[in-house]
Amino acid sequence: MKRILITSALPYVAGVKHLGNLVGSMLPADVFARFCRARGHETLAICATDEHGAAIELAAQDEGISAADYSAKWHNVQKALGEKFGLSWDNFGRSSSKQNHELTLHFARALWKNGFLDVRTTKQAYSPTDGRFLPDRYVIGTCPHCNYDRARGDQCENCTRVLDPMDLKNPRSAISGAQDIEIRDSTHLFLKQSGFSDQLRVWIDGHKNDWPLIVTSIAYKWLDEGLHDRGITRDLDWGIPVPDDIADGKLKGKVFYVWFDAPIEYIGATKEWAEQQGKPDEWKKWWLDAKDVTYWEFMGKDNVPFHTIIFPAMIMGTGENWKKVDRLKGFNYLNYDGGKFSTSQRRGIFMDAALDVAPADYWRYYLMANAPESSDSNFTWEQFAGIINKDLADVLGNFVNRVTKFCVARFDGKVPGEGDYGDDEKALIAELDQRVAQYTEFMEQADFRKAMGELRAIWVAGNEYMTRAAPWTHIKTDRDKAAVGVRMGLNLVHIFAHLIWPVMPVMAKKIHEAIQPIAYEDGAIPWVEMKMAQELDQLEHGQPITPPELLFAKIPEEVIAELKIRFGGSESGTP
Ligand code: 2FM
Ligand code: ZN
Repeated sequence: MKRILITSALPYVAGVKHLGNLVGSMLPADVFARFCRARGHETLAICATDEHGAAIELAAQDEGISAADYSAKWHNVQKALGEKFGLSWDNFGRSSSKQNHELTLHFARALWKNGFLDVRTTKQAYSPTDGRFLPDRYVIGTCPHCNYDRARGDQCENCTRVLDPMDLKNPRSAISGAQDIEIRDSTHLFLKQSGFSDQLRVWIDGHKNDWPLIVTSIAYKWLDEGLHDRGITRDLDWGIPVPDDIADGKLKGKVFYVWFDAPIEYIGATKEWAEQQGKPDEWKKWWLDAKDVTYWEFMGKDNVPFHTIIFPAMIMGTGENWKKVDRLKGFNYLNYDGGKFSTSQRRGIFMDAALDVAPADYWRYYLMANAPESSDSNFTWEQFAGIINKDLADVLGNFVNRVTKFCVARFDGKVPGEGDYGDDEKALIAELDQRVAQYTEFMEQADFRKAMGELRAIWVAGNEYMTRAAPWTHIKTDRDKAAVGVRMGLNLVHIFAHLIWPVMPVMAKKIHEAIQPIAYEDGAIPWVEMKMAQELDQLEHGQPITPPELLFAKIPEEVIAELKIRFGGSESGTP
């Protein structure tokens, strides 16, 4: 048994997330966490809402409520939606938690004590029109690297480079659009990142073979361009205040930058989880001197610099033995019908609206089968419907229905015991030994598109066997032969339930219940670990089964057309 720590990038608390956010972090983290649990590993899956920063402060202002109330409200919305999507976190915390406040101060004090923080007076954008400093993303302008004209002051979402608001060409206020931006002095803390370059390079070199290329290439680009020291405080009210014992009170009234405290919340949410469990020290075994833990992080490519450079540098600077990421699974972007998903423009499909269209498991399978792994991937309604209608309804759903219904019609709804497995069954067993091992290997590597391809191939192999075995034909002439086909078919249905659980937990339970009603009422449906010769001959002869209700409903063409209209324009996305 291994110990696996899994975190997904923390979604900003502002509003409902779109499917691009979901597929780039929370969903793959959940599929992987379920897979680890199914294999019997001690698994801890952590996520939280990322609640600080200028964006949240301003969104709260827009709603006319305090940032604290705003965060609490949207945290609850996101938690409920995540649960509806089957996201099975051990804890879904909040970066504004007491635990994160404490840990963030711990990190800051350790960095200060070790001389890795500097106090510097900087020039900062101030908007007289808005009557305030404009922190990072509240200055927008043209990216100096790629000329994208809506780059935010913290990062260009087009070329992913991290920016300083001062770098932007034609800067303007994101609040009012005012261009009368003045430069005023403001004192801030800086993380002396440059001192960690060599140490970071050695560490990243050690992961060249187990991080995706998208991740190592971003990390090396940063190192090769040279690390700059980074401001880690902001002129905001909402956030974690800098304490007076750092820099002799010179930072009074300022808070830590959202990206300073956000990754620390991975630890904060673990600590909160431990307290909820009534074992307040349990978090340490996941984070401190945790050599026996394998730590996996899941995130979109824009988050990669923060997790390969900045957060690890913060950890190194404490001089303490915090766990650093072992396997960093970074994703490209999912596009919506050829363009970007966009929260600000409400373009694409948002988690709440998605569940009005189809059950969570449909989305989970579709998204993992099309995960933007080695390149960006593109959502279209035709493709979504095609995959639901073919893979899920025709291949998997139809198989389960055919076999279980025929068993009821001709074998009294009981696993038939007559006849022996012959050459056809042995060939199938040999094929599935290979395919299930391959599927397991892809899942172990979090190689999701390939894993889903193999899973589908397993269903197809089952279907092809069934077509050859044709118990509906043999029943008239050779009852034993028909019984063998049905028995194998039911055993296949049974292992399908086990194999799909990480991806489609609700369907897995439904299918499993059709075969064995009481098993695994709560918790994981365990992985298929035995040889197929045993796995596919384990149902007790005479045991009753019940066909499940309709598993997968097809999406008809008229509905696709309606969905395209409903979600197509820039105003659509969510009601
Ligand atoms: O990009 C984002 O959505 C950030 N909220 C991710 C934060 S990840 C972590 F470090 F907290
Ligand atoms: Zn750019």
